[in-house]
Amino acid sequence: AGRHRQTFTWRGFIIVLLLLTGSSAVVIWLYMSLSDDVTETLVSRREVLTEPRLFLVQCSEDYENYKQFPGCTPKKCGRAVIDSVVTKEEAQALRRLAERGLSLGGSDGGASILDLHSGALSMGKKFVNIYRYFSDQIREVFTEEDFTLYRDVRGRIQRVIAETFGLDSSQMYLTKPTFFSHINSTSAKTTHDEYWHPHIDKVTYGSFDYTSLLYLTDYGVDFGGGRFIFMDPNSNRTVEPRAGRVSFFSSGSENLHRVEKVVWGTRYAITVSFTCDPDHAIADPTLP
Ligand SMILES: *[C@@H]1O[C@H](CO)[C@@H](O)[C@H](O)[C@H]1NC(C)=O
Ligand SMILES: *[C@@H]1O[C@H](CO)[C@@H](O)[C@H](O)[C@H]1NC(C)=O
Repeated sequence: AGRHRQTFTWRGFIIVLLLLTGSSAVVIWLYMSLSDDVTETLVSRREVLTEPRLFLVQCSEDYENYKQFPGCTPKKCGRAVIDSVVTKEEAQALRRLAERGLSLGGSDGGASILDLHSGALSMGKKFVNIYRYFSDQIREVFTEEDFTLYRDVRGRIQRVIAETFGLDSSQMYLTKPTFFSHINSTSAKTTHDEYWHPHIDKVTYGSFDYTSLLYLTDYGVDFGGGRFIFMDPNSNRTVEPRAGRVSFFSSGSENLHRVEKVVWGTRYAITVSFTCDPDHAIADPTLP
């Protein structure tokens, strides 16, 4: 009788287990199909793109509210990613430049910036001008080679954007803000730290026509979270950062985007912005 009872208990156990597994599968399936969140990876960290991978989207009407510059104003819109414009070594050198600069300051929240053009550096809950604040000592932090590399890289990015969208590179100008960013998982202390909100660059900065990002660290290796997301009506499309990867896009509403919150590690990138309007051009930075 004892043996019989044991067999019975085992069978019951297996039946309950199967029922539980089955019902949780149904619950998960229902959850997945009812929440209509669609996420696609446009380019993963592991891929290496030696040619630009271009995704065209229809241009928004945003550009019509601004002066038109033939050969530059977006007629062809979209986003592209390429890994062969900046080498891993150059990305490392730029990352070290960013680390040295940012070590002089740093936001209390998780997002800090360093702008070599204006000199703006996050410090606590505000910004300081590194050139004024550290006047003579700045040459102990940055070298001429750093600045030469920075200018060279921005020139290459400008040319690849022009080639990809069929523009005249000489009609594009660097604009502000163009800056290094450092993001970690420390919680935001001011609105300057809130980088994750969806936004449109041309709405935030009217002068922008093309936005580019040069990543200096690897998603999933140096940090978690922090993917770049294009928020299209039917899908969220992500670009996974990779050191040396350049991602660029037309700055209008066709490219509503956000950056996922960084959950561990540190994400370094450079935002390099371009305008078609010479009135909004800024010069390359020079070491004072
Ligand atoms: C995209 O992600 C946001 C949250 O960041 C979500 O609200 C939205 O529904 C998603 N869109 C799609 C089409 O899945
Ligand atoms: C994030 O960066 C800030 C500014 O550099 C720093 O003070 C803070 O300790 C960092 N947080 C983590 C979790 O590393």
